[in-house]
Amino acid sequence: KTEMIVVDKCVDEENSYTQAVETLKSGEVVAFPTETVYGLGADATNFEAVSKIFEAKGRPADNPLIVHVDSKESALNYVQEVSPKALQCMDAFWPGALTLIMQAKPETFASNVTANLQTVGIRVPNHPVALKLLHEVKLPLAAPSANTSGKPSPTLANHVRHDMDGRIPLILDGGATEIGIESTVLDTTCEPPVILRPGKITKEQIESVIGTIRSSSGNKDNVPKSPGMKYMHYAPTAPLYLIEDEKSLIEKAIQYVQEKGKRVAVISEMDYPLADFNFPLSMESLYASLRECDFTDADLILAPVKSSDQDQDALMNRLEKAADHKWFS
Ligand code: TXA
Ligand code: MG
Repeated sequence: KTEMIVVDKCVDEENSYTQAVETLKSGEVVAFPTETVYGLGADATNFEAVSKIFEAKGRPADNPLIVHVDSKESALNYVQEVSPKALQCMDAFWPGALTLIMQAKPETFASNVTANLQTVGIRVPNHPVALKLLHEVKLPLAAPSANTSGKPSPTLANHVRHDMDGRIPLILDGGATEIGIESTVLDTTCEPPVILRPGKITKEQIESVIGTIRSSSGNKDNVPKSPGMKYMHYAPTAPLYLIEDEKSLIEKAIQYVQEKGKRVAVISEMDYPLADFNFPLSMESLYASLRECDFTDADLILAPVKSSDQDQDALMNRLEKAADHKWFS
């Protein structure tokens, strides 16, 4: 049975953290909130503990985990040949939703954290619960998103419980996560650095600190440098289709599907009264909406997007993956 503890001002904070710290130190897995999504944490120096993360998620072993630390100073204990640009990014964006890929010091982390790569992804999360936990446990915590592999990342403790009940001993409930999608992943081991996964922190924001970088998304003939990018992601049970965001087109699509006796959910900024179900679309609400669809009997999900939308880069990236790049036509 999985225990869930609310960590806010209303409960005995110290006891909650003590329990979480002891659980982590004994080599068990604890889910905790970050500002992006909930993470499934374990001692990154303990192979057995880390293997429990892979087991709980059903995650392929060749997909490395992100390591969370409480400060730049802690991070620097675990990496070598750190580029000046990586240091500048730490100063500018940590704590925050930017994961930096760097050269790991040999034999620092359990080999399953990095999937035997020589590099490691590290970030300092900007969330009081995550920071307090890291500060008290005094260990680097490997923590992928706390969802079953292939499912949308959890933005609420209840999402974690849905996927992990009975699989992990403890969830710290810190309420809804603020950003709602995973961190930007920047590979700083090459020149220029490359964004392997877009996120709330944009290419432009990073470029304003370290100059021109590259973006690997959309570069389909590239071998994925971020091993995780090749796997199916964020998928709801019913098939999700992207559709050009134009009211009459969407209404026609809804009717067409309903005429075949099927039920339609729409994930959109505006409601479509014709649809059987409506759920909100924004960076903060996307994953919750995808999960909500699984609780309906919708046969098909439509997500209106403007194919021209550029500054919604990260949201578009998650939608394309959830839809497996299918467009309704
Ligand atoms: O916001 C986040 O980053 C959340 C919270 C919990 O911090 N974590 C998260 O972790 O999204 P995860 O494991 O679901 O995603 C990690 C991504 C994967 O795409 C993985 O392939 C990539 O980072 N990654 C990790 N280590 C890497 C490495 N050494 N080289 C390239 N990519 C790496
Ligand atoms: Mg994930």
